[in-house]
Amino acid sequence: MNNININATSTPPSGGRGASVRVFAPATVANVVCGFDVLGFAVNEPGDEVVMRLTDKPGITISKITGDDGRLPLDPAKNTVSVSVQHYLQSIGRPELGLDIELHKKMPIGSGLGSSSASTVAGLFAAKTLLDDETDVMQLLPFAMKGEEMACGHGHADNVAPALLGGFILVRSYDPLEVIRLPHPEGLYCTVVFPDVDVPTREARQIIRNKVLLKDAVTQWGNIAGLVSGLFMQDIDLIGRSMQDILVEPVRSMLIPDFYRMRELAMEAGAVGFGISGSGPSVFALTKDETTARNITQKLQQHLTHIKIYSQGYVSPVNAAGPRVLERF
Ligand code: HSE
Repeated sequence: MNNININATSTPPSGGRGASVRVFAPATVANVVCGFDVLGFAVNEPGDEVVMRLTDKPGITISKITGDDGRLPLDPAKNTVSVSVQHYLQSIGRPELGLDIELHKKMPIGSGLGSSSASTVAGLFAAKTLLDDETDVMQLLPFAMKGEEMACGHGHADNVAPALLGGFILVRSYDPLEVIRLPHPEGLYCTVVFPDVDVPTREARQIIRNKVLLKDAVTQWGNIAGLVSGLFMQDIDLIGRSMQDILVEPVRSMLIPDFYRMRELAMEAGAVGFGISGSGPSVFALTKDETTARNITQKLQQHLTHIKIYSQGYVSPVNAAGPRVLERF
């Protein structure tokens, strides 16, 4: 992972059958409570879709974006998907390639669900598929991070890496970049609830303290190590005990309506652990089974309705596969 060399293994088809592809990439829960910027996992639902086709005209165009309420730019120089894909094309020596992108947003933007990462990963995976590029998907990570940098001013990998690789991911180091795929217990379920309030990642990062006390750091890295150990040991109770964050959550929780009440509700209903998804405002809970996950989703959404906040809820197992081709035509 330290040295990233990209090699295109073949030329793209010139048109007709195989010249278009539809790809899905999953939403992600970054941080997993204690692992700010270094832990994340992918979920099966929601996720974004990209339809990409080879064109005769050189350069990238974006012909359509749906599900974004007009918030995302169609200008390929300003859109995270096209910018990331352009970096990838350059790296494989095909900067002139003609590609058209349709982006279908299937999750709220600025929700803490790795919305931009899902779109970017779907775009990169679509391009790799169209080019029949056999390079390991891991090699797309630096290009996906370019998109993240553009979306929120910081190239963190805890959303893009799980969106790209699936499962739980540890970012062991940013310089040099090293990400490690972690195992997780079979049957682990996740509920994510998005309370419809505005918390832009850029701002959610600005309010965090830059300095931490050594005693707090000791608590935090104990929990991160505990969580990673729990994942390896398939020890769900250890995973739950380790999902504590004393550095970021106390500050960010102020941006989320009734955060601590929601935690109480989730834990009472049997959550393994509960916290903020990425930079929020979405919250998530890990559970041992689907029924508990559905029950928690219902309780959290009922509570949000009670305090007059619209919400969306998603229940799914941890996504182990990352992006997938839905259709090639
Ligand atoms: N680790 C990042 C943060 C993820 O918490 O700001 C953004 O979703």
